[in-house]
Amino acid sequence: MIKLEQILAGCLIFFSACTNKGDMKSKEDQFVEELMAKMTLEEKIGQMNQYTSHWEMTGPAPKNASSQKRLEEIKAGGVGSMLNVVGAKATYEAQKLAVENSRLGIPLIFAYDVIHGYKTMAPIPLAEACAWDPEISRISSQLAAREASAAGLHWTFAPMMDVGRDARWGRVMEGCGEDPYLASVLSVARVKGFQGENLSKENTIAACAKHFAAYAFAEAGRDYNTVDIGTYTLHNIALPPFKAVADAGVSTFMNAFNIINGTPATASPYLQREILKGKWNFEGYVISDWGSIEEIVSHGAAEDLKHAAELAVKAGSDMDMESSAYLPYLKELVEEGKVDEALIDDAARRILKLKYRLGLFDDPYKYSNEEREKEIIYSKESREQAREVARHSMVLLKNNDQLLPLSKDIKSIALIGPLANDKNSPLGSWRAQTVKNSAVSLLEGIQNAVGSTSKINFAKGCDLALGERNFLDELVYAEADVQEMAKAVAAAKKSDIVILALGEDCFQSGEGRSQTDIRLKGVQMDLYNKIRKLNKKIVVVLMNGRPIAIPEIAESADAILETWFAGSEAGNAIADVLFGDFNPSGKLTTSFPYATGQCPIYYNHMNTGRPNNTGNVFWSHYTDAPNEALYPFGYGLSYTSFEYGQANVDKQTYKMNEAIQLKVKVKNTGKFTGEEVVQVYIQDPAASYARPVKELKAFQKISFKPGEEKEIEFSLDQSDLGYYSPDGEFLFETGTYHLYVGTNSRYVQKLSVKFID
Ligand code: NOJ
Repeated sequence: MIKLEQILAGCLIFFSACTNKGDMKSKEDQFVEELMAKMTLEEKIGQMNQYTSHWEMTGPAPKNASSQKRLEEIKAGGVGSMLNVVGAKATYEAQKLAVENSRLGIPLIFAYDVIHGYKTMAPIPLAEACAWDPEISRISSQLAAREASAAGLHWTFAPMMDVGRDARWGRVMEGCGEDPYLASVLSVARVKGFQGENLSKENTIAACAKHFAAYAFAEAGRDYNTVDIGTYTLHNIALPPFKAVADAGVSTFMNAFNIINGTPATASPYLQREILKGKWNFEGYVISDWGSIEEIVSHGAAEDLKHAAELAVKAGSDMDMESSAYLPYLKELVEEGKVDEALIDDAARRILKLKYRLGLFDDPYKYSNEEREKEIIYSKESREQAREVARHSMVLLKNNDQLLPLSKDIKSIALIGPLANDKNSPLGSWRAQTVKNSAVSLLEGIQNAVGSTSKINFAKGCDLALGERNFLDELVYAEADVQEMAKAVAAAKKSDIVILALGEDCFQSGEGRSQTDIRLKGVQMDLYNKIRKLNKKIVVVLMNGRPIAIPEIAESADAILETWFAGSEAGNAIADVLFGDFNPSGKLTTSFPYATGQCPIYYNHMNTGRPNNTGNVFWSHYTDAPNEALYPFGYGLSYTSFEYGQANVDKQTYKMNEAIQLKVKVKNTGKFTGEEVVQVYIQDPAASYARPVKELKAFQKISFKPGEEKEIEFSLDQSDLGYYSPDGEFLFETGTYHLYVGTNSRYVQKLSVKFID
């Protein structure tokens, strides 16, 4: 059974082995203290400054004045870290500038957004989370770390663990979905994948928990927008994944662009000092988000950049990413008595400790090894791992009459759609150093799978976003689409089956890509309807970075496979699933609404005072759409079928310190070997504070052979059943608890138990 505590235990062993244990820790402390004693105030402030590189490190020195100034600052020890310097050669050159020129030769730490791969792309994080498999998450991050570290990098700005409930927000593609427990388990696994067992190994990199905090709660799903979240939701939904990775030893945190209840997160002592560094005892350092110190002024919470620097450092932001606020002003602020020098010492100390753990003081160039870079990056092994992760990430949403898997002997296949031969979109947003158009397209993947046995009739059908709606909401076609659509209809007519690849462009989601409408863009629905009319069997393959509203397709397609943006090996991995070389086992980690207007939509909502249909209008509902999701959290089909027996618990009444032992038999009643994610939800129906209708608290992903039955056991104790008060106090209360066991958040069986004093 996957319990967060078990995963954390693994990390704690590592941490006690390599840091807490007297020896190493005291060596580290001693080294850092000795270094600190030699440093001037300016040099300490320099460590707190991060710049992006906007010049070619290996080329001639930059000519423009601001770049030239930055070079001089690196040489003078005024820069602690660079982001966006990539490649063994470039990082070597940049490191040399700092190490050979600055007075104390303190190495730089190189950071980069390695979100789902460096050059070999694994699926986007939202997809990878759908595997519901910490080991898959670990492998995917380890692959990214291996390649990034071979390119001279020490530190990634990942994982993002913002719990995202609003599909309009483009950054849902970067997270684990809508559930705080699942996000905790998978984020811890991702941190383990990046950081490994020992940060000083050349194939591991430091991770960064972001964005602290509540960034995903931007009003109306518009990126960078205001966040006004109650402390109850903050403590129970937004913070738990951050606490989990802090406990697991994540090296760094990044704060967020948003204000939260009036205070910019970057300037929030409550979040950074009281909770993170106080209550959670986090020993790493906090970096601002890009320019977020400067943005304190735009938010209207600081008078000018100097004031913003003062607020940020007091709040606990240790490193300034690209605001250029700390370098010019912190010394002055200390001299004026506005900032206590101890805060600068604390920040510098935290930063130097990570450099020590990475082994940079032993050898500042050890990651910048061109031989290793050539050998490791985009290797066969990396591609195979990316394909494996991709297969696990796909979610089978519909499969009428067991249409899938398809036979490889099928005579003719119409492969249609704007994404059918797209080699770029599957790479997703946040693609680091991957090469444009380098993904295996679906067309290529299918060709690889069927060889010359099947005739593939390919037609694009339409562009992703050509064609617009006029003021009457009618689609106005682009000329190119009219022709493409005719070709697509012809291709479908002469084929035995249609595979239709629809969805989003890869840059429709990601940072700054919020949408007010999450339906398919352009004339894609028209293409679907035209093909549908031909009465052929249709398999819809979706590629997208967020949940999309597809009620008509859900109603009338024969099969639907959600493949997200599956990375470099996308086409091969999709073909593995379509033709049965891999039995899909992914489950949604985010609800699919019928309509955009349902956003934010999430399974673990409150009950409201009027939850039931009263037959009149005075109950909590929409008059033009259901309340429920089209596809709920936890949902996903398999080529085989599973039957659940009656779940049972060891007792009806428990003392507060006892754990519930829950058992359920699950049987594979179909013809294929397959994996099932057995899910356990709880509900506290009468608590001091109203609780959600359901909350995921445990799951296990188990493989079953055809006909095989297994009894699955779960143990739930107060850490699973309790919750946080609006003040952040953990509460576990007596009374009834409902337990829900099943295959997704909707189809579950219910049991009830009692806890007494
Ligand atoms: C802004 C993004 O919000 C953050 O996630 C990212 O790491 C930084 N830019 C650096 O690129």
